[in-house]
Amino acid sequence: MTEEPRYLLAAHNDALAQEGRAPRFFVRNYGCQMNERDAEKLRALLSQLGYAQTKTQEDADFILYNTCCVRKSAEDKIFGHLSRVKTAKAANKGLFVVVCGCMTQQPDIAQVFRKHPYVNVVCGTANRHRLPEFIWQAMETGAQVIDINEDEGLPELTGVPVTTREYPHKAGVNIMYGCDNYCAFCIVPYVRGREKSRPAADILEEARALAADGVKEIMLLGQNVNAYGKNDKAGEGAFADLLRQVHDIPGLARIRFMTSHPKDFSGALIAAMAELPRVCKSVHLPLQSGSTRVLADMNRQYTQEDYLALTRRLQGAIPDIAITTDIIVGYPGETEEDFEATLAVARQVGFAGAFTFIYSQRSGTPAASRTDTVPRKTANERFERLTATLYPIMEARNQQLVGRTVETMVEEQGKGRTGDNTLVHFTSEKAAYAIGDLIPVRVHTARSFYVKGISSL
Ligand code: SAH
Ligand code: SF4
Ligand code: F3S
Repeated sequence: MTEEPRYLLAAHNDALAQEGRAPRFFVRNYGCQMNERDAEKLRALLSQLGYAQTKTQEDADFILYNTCCVRKSAEDKIFGHLSRVKTAKAANKGLFVVVCGCMTQQPDIAQVFRKHPYVNVVCGTANRHRLPEFIWQAMETGAQVIDINEDEGLPELTGVPVTTREYPHKAGVNIMYGCDNYCAFCIVPYVRGREKSRPAADILEEARALAADGVKEIMLLGQNVNAYGKNDKAGEGAFADLLRQVHDIPGLARIRFMTSHPKDFSGALIAAMAELPRVCKSVHLPLQSGSTRVLADMNRQYTQEDYLALTRRLQGAIPDIAITTDIIVGYPGETEEDFEATLAVARQVGFAGAFTFIYSQRSGTPAASRTDTVPRKTANERFERLTATLYPIMEARNQQLVGRTVETMVEEQGKGRTGDNTLVHFTSEKAAYAIGDLIPVRVHTARSFYVKGISSL
């Protein structure tokens, strides 16, 4: 890539800043942790280009949407926000709008955005490092730029410091990109491309730089971290080995990872989790459905029994491990009996937390062609019954913490998380703590989604 557009934009924005103020940017992020990490880097990139960050869309001269399309609701929200931008742009012709991220990787998206000419630049998930070039091109020509070409190699957002992050104490580190699993309901493999692992040396270098910069907690990120190195024939234990190496980095107090696919969870990983004290005793293990028949339809490649056996092994090897999950209700063909199997698994595992979704049809996925869809009313009812089952289980788990003192990493004033990721609200008489500190909190109250306590600090 030529450095010229980047330089030109920075110089242009510097000149504006001399006259008065730097143009202000606002990034709105949607979707998963990986998108959040991308958004951090995009913010850093825009700062390098001479823009100043602002906290609200209304204040901004430059708005970037980093989109998600995993469910229709995410897309609806984005188009809702875009329609407000259209109104804002009518009042402020100079407003510059960029849309990037997963939504832009869908077929026919160019046609969609040509109907939204107030969007200046649309770029993809694999070519966003070329954003300065696209912005400059759109500014120079005054025409909309749509470029979603996929480059070869790792879709890394290069050119910003690896220590770029939103929070002082924690950061995500991508260990792989894309997904090859093709779960029948899911659009991610189509919009994020093939599964590719980053070289361990790059990951470790980034993690070391973050630790040296004051980061206490690192989350290793990928759509299926358990498959790390699989395409490079690195073998089943590659992720466990990586975890051990990250664990050796001085300065890190907590190491997390997500997401784990149940089909690839190795014995070596369970052993590493049990053995390494700074690896958090929590695992996000999406179930999707408790019915073996639905799981086969979904192409998840495990059965109800496999899932239960895995959670039993985890609970046996790591006492008190917090298992969280994702569950979809109303998948095409899901019967009452299938749904009850999901409830049964939820009860048996005793989930510490769960993201619950109503199935959303994504065009281009195998499930989208099914005609045996579950009526909306039935799906809504099942959703209510699922959460009514899950919440008391989550609360009962949190009740076990009442009377105990838990080590809490402070995330903001009066709020933090335990190693097993339980949200802790706390009061403290002296408030002698800083963000990122590990402090003892004595728990006195438990709810489904958090506990409350008092810190002696
Ligand atoms: N890679 C992760 C999931 C990423 S998407 C994994 O496999 O575990 C996050 C969650 O969104 C999924 O676990 C699933 O529960 C949900 N999801 C994905 N596609 C969906 C769809 N079409 N409808 C409803 N929920 C969906
Ligand atoms: Fe989607 Fe399945 Fe890949 Fe997760 S593992 S991102 S649900 S295709
Ligand atoms: Fe959404 Fe893309 Fe993540 S579709 S869930 S932002 S990988």
